[in-house]
Amino acid sequence: MTRPPKNSGAPSLGAFTAGQLVRLCDVAGLSASDAEIYARILLEMLGPVADRPLSLPPPSASFLSDDHTPVEFSLAFLPGAPPALRVLLEPGADAADPAEGGRAGLLAVRAMARRWNFGTDRLDELEDLFFPSSPHGPFTLWCALELRPGGVPKVKVYLNPAASGRNRAAETVREALRRIGHRRAFAVLPQADGYPFFALDLGDWDEPRAKVYLRHDHLTAARAADLSRMRPGPDGRAVREFFQDVSGYADVTAPLGAGPLRAGRPGLTCHAFTDRAARTPTGFTLHIPVRDYVRHDRDALSRATTVLRRRGMEPTALRRALSAVTSRDPRDGVGLVAYLALAHQQGRPPRVTAYVSSEAYRVRPPVPATRERVPAVG
Ligand code: TRP
Repeated sequence: MTRPPKNSGAPSLGAFTAGQLVRLCDVAGLSASDAEIYARILLEMLGPVADRPLSLPPPSASFLSDDHTPVEFSLAFLPGAPPALRVLLEPGADAADPAEGGRAGLLAVRAMARRWNFGTDRLDELEDLFFPSSPHGPFTLWCALELRPGGVPKVKVYLNPAASGRNRAAETVREALRRIGHRRAFAVLPQADGYPFFALDLGDWDEPRAKVYLRHDHLTAARAADLSRMRPGPDGRAVREFFQDVSGYADVTAPLGAGPLRAGRPGLTCHAFTDRAARTPTGFTLHIPVRDYVRHDRDALSRATTVLRRRGMEPTALRRALSAVTSRDPRDGVGLVAYLALAHQQGRPPRVTAYVSSEAYRVRPPVPATRERVPAVG
């Protein structure tokens, strides 16, 4: 009798993440048949890495998630409805280099465009900027799918402004905006410490957006509330409150200290442009990497609960979503909730987004409880 190969018991990356996706579809109120369609799409988009057993290391040092799983989920919450489910993924995660990764990404996007019959003109116009012959890291193309009912996702593409060189990132963003018709958009963006992502909505959107993500080192609540360039802008108090609720900034007992976002990853803002005639963006989102400002995921969940309840929403779906991706106790790790975001889009109510890690490869251990810091007296 021959023994089965050693790895045969390990699930594949595709089976693992598709299982998570199917369970999340249920949380998001999608039908079982939509879930099945979307699971198949996820496997196709991942390509050959879908078959890779999880007993092997991640296919690459993907920067998409902390443990290098090339998949991350997110849930967008609005009052009165189940959350909208999205999946972010890196096509060609096993590429030998960023150039090959970029080619795999473009092929995957163009295959979707043919399948669902949408144009890629805006992406095509930017190819030389984001896909030079030897692109710089840390990634070349990611793709996000919004899994709406009906089995046809809405598609978003994320590009790396540093692809043509880190010192050219600002210029790359300026030129990309100009080429797609937002001639004066760059000039209205607030000051930033970096340009991590440039994103395009492709396909069937009412108002396809071009989105610029900015990095802000040592962000404070007051500064965060000052970064929107929408007219009219979001309620500054709500933005400050969100920052404080998520970062623990206002809470002097927070384990990692009160103060600006300094101890971990920086805050990001995203500025969305839809109207070419308008100079100002029509969307503003604040992203806080909550995982670096909590001890474990139960704290992250409780911060999410606070921001949801403030907006009249219950955290039940988020709790269910965490159970859909993992059976571990939220206190046994940190990073399951990667970011919490507050998104404003003109003419719509603000929404809260939670980014949920797959943890296919690794769970980051919780921060050990330290002794109570006793304020010095006298
Ligand atoms: N992992 C990267 C980061 O933490 C990129 C990323 C993944 C990201 N999901 C995100 C950035 C959601 C902002 C929001 O920065």
